[in-house]
Amino acid sequence: MTNPPAREWHSGYTGRTGPVMEDFTERINRRTIPELKAAGSLKWTGYRDALGAWVAEMDFGVAEPIREALHEYTDSELFGYAPYALELELCRATDQYYSRNFGWSPGQDNVVPTGDVLSGLGAVIDFYTPSGSPVVLPTPAYMPFRDFPRTKGREVIEVPMIQDADGWHMDLAAIACALADNGGLVILCNPHNPVGKMYTRSELRALEGIVARKQATVFADEIHASITLAGRKHIPYASIGPVAAAHTVTATSASKTFNIPGLKCAQLLFSNPQHRQIWRERGFHISHGASNPGRIATIAAYDRGQQWCDQVVSYLEQSRQLLGELLADRVPAVSWNRPDGSYLAWLDVSALDLGRNPQKFMLENAGVALVDGAQCGAGFENFLRLNFAVPQPVLVQMIERIARAVATNSLRDR
Ligand SMILES: Cc1ncc(COP(=O)(O)O)c(C=O)c1O
Repeated sequence: MTNPPAREWHSGYTGRTGPVMEDFTERINRRTIPELKAAGSLKWTGYRDALGAWVAEMDFGVAEPIREALHEYTDSELFGYAPYALELELCRATDQYYSRNFGWSPGQDNVVPTGDVLSGLGAVIDFYTPSGSPVVLPTPAYMPFRDFPRTKGREVIEVPMIQDADGWHMDLAAIACALADNGGLVILCNPHNPVGKMYTRSELRALEGIVARKQATVFADEIHASITLAGRKHIPYASIGPVAAAHTVTATSASKTFNIPGLKCAQLLFSNPQHRQIWRERGFHISHGASNPGRIATIAAYDRGQQWCDQVVSYLEQSRQLLGELLADRVPAVSWNRPDGSYLAWLDVSALDLGRNPQKFMLENAGVALVDGAQCGAGFENFLRLNFAVPQPVLVQMIERIARAVATNSLRDR
């Protein structure tokens, strides 16, 4: 099975060009579906007969500096516990990456590793929020955020975001209500999975005021911060001022941007000295969950992965445009707001009449595996999350298949 030509749908995109970018684009566009399946990722093997557009993995391989660092690692003896020097290097690299890319430096002493963002969230709930206080979650949301806090005995209060002509917005009044006056935690996902929103400074400031009034804490998940499209710049929540800094723990990871979640190394960034101190007393076993290869790959990514990251962003900018053109042409009844960050598209399929489970419809009739909107929050049953970090010819096939399934369905309904 070969890919259809990408050129048919080549958009008028005029972003980063040049031989390095052309080489990257050509290499990715040549990847075929059998090759992706043979590579064996979860995204391409989880649903054997379908095209993989669900879990947040990219089909772009890995940056050369990461591969080199891992080769060196397998030739080393560093299979024991993490040496102090490696830990320090990770903290330095993370701090410098944040400073270089987002203009905010937490300071390397304020960086700690965790195995992944979710274990960081668990520790933040345990260490920094009053026992029994709620976790307030703007929805739609990254799916495990709905369930995971419940495993810690916490109530998760879902606060649906509001959609208007400008896109999606947090419902600040409802967040204030949900927090009551007993503290608790707000999960701020910025850039937002799944809607792809990047919050403006004034939106972050508005949240800061509410959280401060309620004496609550913010878990600022910035895992998608480097995948920002069309020149948008990420603003770290903790950087907006001392009030936000005092009530925030930031979580990040190279895992999404550099496609290495299986290597198990995320980072928490502290901006409140008390939080840092408590971590010194209680955080060891959480940081213990980060792996040595994860630390080594992360250092390589942050120090030497920028060119690769720029190519990925540039490719995704083209893909976002391509997706918009394909949807408008082939399935115009699908509505969406173009994401500013991440490689996820949040598609409203309510006008299509696909039955009670649009995800199942697409899987069975189009052979495309997407994320069910219902998993992202109550009330989002008519949404689908599509991961467009696939080769562009594969993206064309996905939308063609979806369009054919939708057309057949509407004929059947007549
Ligand atoms: C917003 C967000 N947070 C966290 C994660 C998971 O991160 P980890 O694998 O480090 O727990 C993901 C994965 O897709 C994500 O999109």
